[in-house]
Amino acid sequence: MKMEKLYTFLLFSLLLAVASFQVRSLTLTPSLNDDVLGLIVFKADIQDPTLKLSTWKEDDDTPCNWNGVKCNPRLNRVTELLDGFSLSGRVGRGLLQLKFLRKLSLAKNNLSGTISPSLVNLESLRIIDLSENSVSGFIPDDSFKQCGALKSVYLANNIFSDKIPGTLGSCATLVNIDLSDLGFEWFEVPDEIGSRLLLRSIDFSWNSFSGPVPQTMQKLSLCSYLNLSMNSFSGDFPEWFGEMESLESLDLSVNNFSGQVPDSIGKLKSLKVLNFSANGLIESLPASMENNVDLLALNFSQNLMTGELPGWIFNSENKVGANMDNVNSISLGPSLQKIQVLDLSQNLFSGVLSFDTGALSSLKLLNLSRNSLVGPIPGTIGELTALDVLDLSRNQLNGSIPTEIGGACSLKDLRLNANILNGKIPTSIENCTFLRIISHNKLSSPIPAEIGKLSNLENVDLSFNSLTGTLPKQLANLPHLLSFNISHNNLRGELPAGIFFNTISPTAVSGNPLLCGSAVNKSCPAVLPKPIVLNPNTTADSISGELPPNVGHKRIVLSISALIAIGAAAFIVVGVIAITVLNLRVKSSTSRSAAPLTFSAGEEFSRSPTTDANSGKLVMFSGEPDISTGAHALLNKDCELGRGGFGAVYRTVLQDGRTVAIKKLTVSSLVKSQEEFKREVKKLGKISHPNLVALEGYYWTPSLQLLISEFVSGGSLHKHLHEGSSGNYLSWHDRFRIILGTAKSLAHLHQLNIIHYNIKSSNVLIDGSGEPKLGDFGLARLLPMLDRYVLSSKIQSALGYMAPEFACRTVKITEKCDVYGFGVLVMEVVTGKRPVEYMEDDVVVLCDMVRGALEEGRVEECVDGRLQGKFPVEEAIPVMKLGLICTSQVPSNRPYMGEVIKILELIRCPSEGQEDSG
Ligand SMILES: *[C@@H]1O[C@H](CO)[C@@H](O)[C@H](O)[C@H]1NC(C)=O
Ligand SMILES: *[C@@H]1O[C@H](CO)[C@@H](O)[C@H](O)[C@H]1NC(C)=O
Ligand SMILES: *[C@@H]1O[C@H](CO)[C@@H](O)[C@H](O)[C@H]1NC(C)=O
Ligand SMILES: *[C@@H]1O[C@H](CO)[C@@H](O)[C@H](O)[C@H]1NC(C)=O
Ligand SMILES: *[C@@H]1O[C@H](CO)[C@@H](O)[C@H](O)[C@H]1NC(C)=O
Ligand SMILES: *[C@@H]1O[C@H](CO)[C@@H](O)[C@H](O)[C@H]1NC(C)=O
Ligand SMILES: *[C@@H]1O[C@H](CO)[C@@H](O)[C@H](O)[C@H]1NC(C)=O
Repeated sequence: MKMEKLYTFLLFSLLLAVASFQVRSLTLTPSLNDDVLGLIVFKADIQDPTLKLSTWKEDDDTPCNWNGVKCNPRLNRVTELLDGFSLSGRVGRGLLQLKFLRKLSLAKNNLSGTISPSLVNLESLRIIDLSENSVSGFIPDDSFKQCGALKSVYLANNIFSDKIPGTLGSCATLVNIDLSDLGFEWFEVPDEIGSRLLLRSIDFSWNSFSGPVPQTMQKLSLCSYLNLSMNSFSGDFPEWFGEMESLESLDLSVNNFSGQVPDSIGKLKSLKVLNFSANGLIESLPASMENNVDLLALNFSQNLMTGELPGWIFNSENKVGANMDNVNSISLGPSLQKIQVLDLSQNLFSGVLSFDTGALSSLKLLNLSRNSLVGPIPGTIGELTALDVLDLSRNQLNGSIPTEIGGACSLKDLRLNANILNGKIPTSIENCTFLRIISHNKLSSPIPAEIGKLSNLENVDLSFNSLTGTLPKQLANLPHLLSFNISHNNLRGELPAGIFFNTISPTAVSGNPLLCGSAVNKSCPAVLPKPIVLNPNTTADSISGELPPNVGHKRIVLSISALIAIGAAAFIVVGVIAITVLNLRVKSSTSRSAAPLTFSAGEEFSRSPTTDANSGKLVMFSGEPDISTGAHALLNKDCELGRGGFGAVYRTVLQDGRTVAIKKLTVSSLVKSQEEFKREVKKLGKISHPNLVALEGYYWTPSLQLLISEFVSGGSLHKHLHEGSSGNYLSWHDRFRIILGTAKSLAHLHQLNIIHYNIKSSNVLIDGSGEPKLGDFGLARLLPMLDRYVLSSKIQSALGYMAPEFACRTVKITEKCDVYGFGVLVMEVVTGKRPVEYMEDDVVVLCDMVRGALEEGRVEECVDGRLQGKFPVEEAIPVMKLGLICTSQVPSNRPYMGEVIKILELIRCPSEGQEDSG
């Protein structure tokens, strides 16, 4: 019913269009009209969500300038329509108007409906490509009755429920057929298809064809590509395939062929790709195949092949036996010199693994896994210098891994798991460019330090061996490491330092009772409980753990976390850091010893601003207060700048023309007396730092307290990151400056023993020159007591910045909670994302996202897209890693702010940190 209506409507619109067209078309050549008309009718049936067809206008004289339309310039008629337009809807009849259409390519759309038989009959049509659509229904049997000049039919990946139209076989001109993934069940075509002698490529893969392959196909002597994979073809392997002389690609994989591979395969001299995998083939590969000299890829995996590995592939000596005149066995004639991919996995091959590799010099992938091969891995493996992937897993290979393996220097993926290999991992692997090592054997002895030189190493699995000893420190330097599974060995000692091993999943290290470190949740007895005490006079070389003599009360304690942090940023040279950290510690410890800070009240100037009896005192630290301005007049609601845990902030212009920010404190949170209030506020007023918002004065009455501070013109960081108009965003340079400036302000506060407690992007203000200024510091001192509840509810209200120890009664809250908030802020600045983002059905926590991305090696993708790639990777990634370290769950693992500054400065000038650590 519906369909009928649609067609009626269509016909109607067609008529209308024709009628209106005739009126306009007097001056045009009629041939053009047909194309415009046809395409407009076609468009009427189509949904075009991405507006690809917006240039298609019925008023145009010619469609030749329309998007996706190509014309023959001489005839000005449409010859091609193109693909990938995300169109959905029905393939309509409008296209019938396009009498000169040669190539109809509507692939990769979402078109549905049935194909009209007459479409195929268009006399000029050569190529019809409807692959990757949802065209359904059935193809009428007579569709291809008159197929004109049709050469190529591509219908792959549609949802036809029926069989191949019988008439397709009668299209004498067909050269290419792709009917893959259509769900066809019957093979009808067969006998006729053999008479279509021009066919060059046939793709019937991914259907449900069954029974034997029609023998008539042997006549297709021009056919170079035949893909029958993923059907249910059965029967003995056809001997006559050897007659299809032009075959270059033959894919019969994933069918139900049985029997032996016939000798006739050796006749296919042009064969490049041969895939017989996942069938039921028995015995071995015929020796005649050594004549397939152009073979690039040979895939016999998942069959039932038995016997030794084919000697004619693996041992040219076998051939020498036949031809003893040739002394130089390497350059022996016919062999698979070009072969790159050889997959014989999952068969029943047995016997000793041996290679004479001269014949396999181009081999890139060798997969012999899941057979029953025995004996050691031959040293000749090292001669396969082009080898990328070697998979010998799940055999019964024994002996040790040969040292010669270092010669296979492009090896990226080595899989030896589930054999019975023993001995040690050869140090010669240092010459390789591994991305992956997999093992699951009986390997013993320590992991060689040379693994630390495989700088491209991404995935390592050495689990379930008998490895002993400690882990080499060099592992911490592998920049691309994604996974490192050493579970179930006998390793002991400390996990290497650095972010990777600090955050490694416990399952990757479990089953080694003697390993220690935070990842195995076991402190290392020799080192962790005691702080490392260092002689400030020592050089970087001696930092590695020895305990120099006590140096009186100038003793310097370098926290473990500092060492971890330092190690984590792999590019930072130990020497430089150690020395700068030491200097810093000396400085901070001297300034700490100077605390408590004393303030003179000398320059306080106070006067009653109003005559009100109950009036308070407006105190400006730096001179004459603005007498005429009543306190309440200071608070103009229209000038509210924002609200925080302590109250609202307003902007006010004083009488002298100066703009200040005034914070009206919420009374309920402050219970301290006027004296205490004055004392604390004056202390805060003394604090001066270019990256801190200066407190300039205050006003106090029992019912109203105001804090007057410097007005920072540029607005908050939060606004810049999350509310900025598009196009006006912070550059990488700006962002780095904000991070560094904020770090400096915090370090300064911490030096004065002031914890901020409330780091968040809305508390970081940006001044006119782009420099950050941290505000709202020290306000916790105005609270009656530093109660954990008050802290977390009133101050640390900003979601996502709150350090985990706020939730844990047993952990003391220190300045490290600011370091946590700072770490979150760093990631916020780099990614441009909020610390916690609520999606429709999901909550994304920024730290977790960045940590996950880091583990998967795609941390670069986290950088704010608005930077459009305009940032130095060598700065952005370490900065993000630093952010992650700062958000360590355990407070003592977070660095001090002074250390953070040093690290940031090194990140910014990597060239200055290049001296070797020795
Ligand atoms: C494909 O078209 C159908 C209706 O024709 C529509 O429901 C579906 O959402 C479309 N799919 C895509 C990916 O556009
Ligand atoms: C054969 O077709 C399958 C599925 O369409 C495809 O995955 C495979 O790569 C093809 N084989 C060759 C040799 O092109
Ligand atoms: C494969 O062929 C065998 C006979 O050769 C038959 O018994 C079996 O059912 C076939 N399997 C499939 C999946 O068609
Ligand atoms: C068969 O193996 C060849 C060569 O390895 C490969 O190109 C092709 O994609 C494989 N076919 C399938 C269906 O995986
Ligand atoms: C061999 O063919 C199978 C399909 O049966 C495919 O999964 C596998 O990847 C192929 N091997 C190679 C090395 O291409
Ligand atoms: C590794 O490379 C070095 C220098 O390039 C070479 O001397 C050494 O023999 C190589 N090792 C192996 C096992 O090939
Ligand atoms: C450290 O060096 C200073 C002078 O550079 C020296 O006075 C002091 O004794 C040294 N301390 C130790 C413990 O070596």
